[in-house]
Amino acid sequence: MTQDDTRKARRIIITGGAGFIGSNFVHHWSKNYPEDRIIVLDSLTYAGNRATLKDLENLENFRFVHGDICDRPLVDELLKQENIDTVAHFAAESHVDRSILGPGAFVQTNVVGTFTLLESFRQYWLESAKPEHHRFLHVSTDEVYGSLEPNDPPFSETTPYSPNSPYSASKAGSDHLARAYYHTYGMPTIITNCSNNYGPFHFPEKLLPLMIINILLSKPLPVYGDGQNVRDWLYVKDHCQALDLVIHKGTPGQTYNVGGNNEVKNIDLVHLLCKLMDELAGDLPVKPAESLITFVKDRPGHDRRYAIDASKIRHELGWVPQKTVEQGIRETILWYLENQQWWRPLLSADYQAYYEASYGQKFT
Ligand code: NAD
Ligand code: TYD
Repeated sequence: MTQDDTRKARRIIITGGAGFIGSNFVHHWSKNYPEDRIIVLDSLTYAGNRATLKDLENLENFRFVHGDICDRPLVDELLKQENIDTVAHFAAESHVDRSILGPGAFVQTNVVGTFTLLESFRQYWLESAKPEHHRFLHVSTDEVYGSLEPNDPPFSETTPYSPNSPYSASKAGSDHLARAYYHTYGMPTIITNCSNNYGPFHFPEKLLPLMIINILLSKPLPVYGDGQNVRDWLYVKDHCQALDLVIHKGTPGQTYNVGGNNEVKNIDLVHLLCKLMDELAGDLPVKPAESLITFVKDRPGHDRRYAIDASKIRHELGWVPQKTVEQGIRETILWYLENQQWWRPLLSADYQAYYEASYGQKFT
């Protein structure tokens, strides 16, 4: 967002701000709006990492709160004490494969947690006499729309919901609640549904960081099924810029789809990544990296294709993604090469146990 002299400073609570997209958003907001008060509320699950925010911890305008979005008294207290006007809600269980292994946590955080935040904010907003600039941004996924066939048009904001995994079903439930709070109570909720993000601070379980790390450690690169599934790839910093515009200029009650305009088959993405790793990663023990590619058992209920029509946010808010997938992957690889102290500790015993349960093979 370009700086504007009339802009009113905000007091924003960012849930899930120690996770992947949330932390990129916290950095974005802190850099662009240093006058704003930022509260991060995060329960530090396996996916949350306080070290990601260490550069900000000493700033006067920044506060980290270790807590759960399902904790209603805590949320009530924070909204009042910090005089919050903006909620940017990222906190979630976010990994499809984990939702297949254990869906309960997904219902708890994604549905009950979102409901808790919405209820708390509703009461607070009513007591504050419904100020016009208050916003509740609910960050969601394109996976709520289900799966596309090769020739289907991309998802638009009016595509009916048809979630297929416990993860996407729980996100769909939370989207419906956020929408209902606008229609029923007039609460200024806005929903965004975005495609697959990638970039710095991405937890190793997700496709791109998993492949980068496995190449560096000379481990097999597990491609599910036939590798022909298609995803749209959105560089996380482009996404943060979109969310910034939505908070400042979006219309309450609306949904905005956010996509990278980068539809790629998984196998093509992995080949591109391998080629760039061969070029950028220096003396890899196994070269070419693509010799590590292994096709493995498919994910149950694996959605075939996601694609986003982002024309609404482009026309209404002037947002366009800046990065091509090749540029974004190059930057991401360089970040993982330079920040090994960030990701190496994440390959913990817990991660290894998850890996074994999910892939049926040992990580070590
Ligand atoms: P992530 O898993 O990297 O981070 C989630 C964060 O939420 C972690 O810091 C975790 O500690 C925190 N958290 C989890 N449960 C909590 C609870 N009960 N209370 C407080 N904090 C809790 O997720 P992400 O990839 O950064 O995704 C952020 C949001 O964006 C999610 O809502 C997700 O559904 C959505 N999204 C992600 C993608 C993607 O490609 N990563 C795509 C579309 C939408
Ligand atoms: P992922 O990063 O888990 O995101 P999502 O399932 O939310 O789209 O996976 C992206 C794609 O990559 C998806 O089609 C599943 C596939 N995939 C693999 O082929 N192998 C893997 O090890 C992982 C984690 C994902």
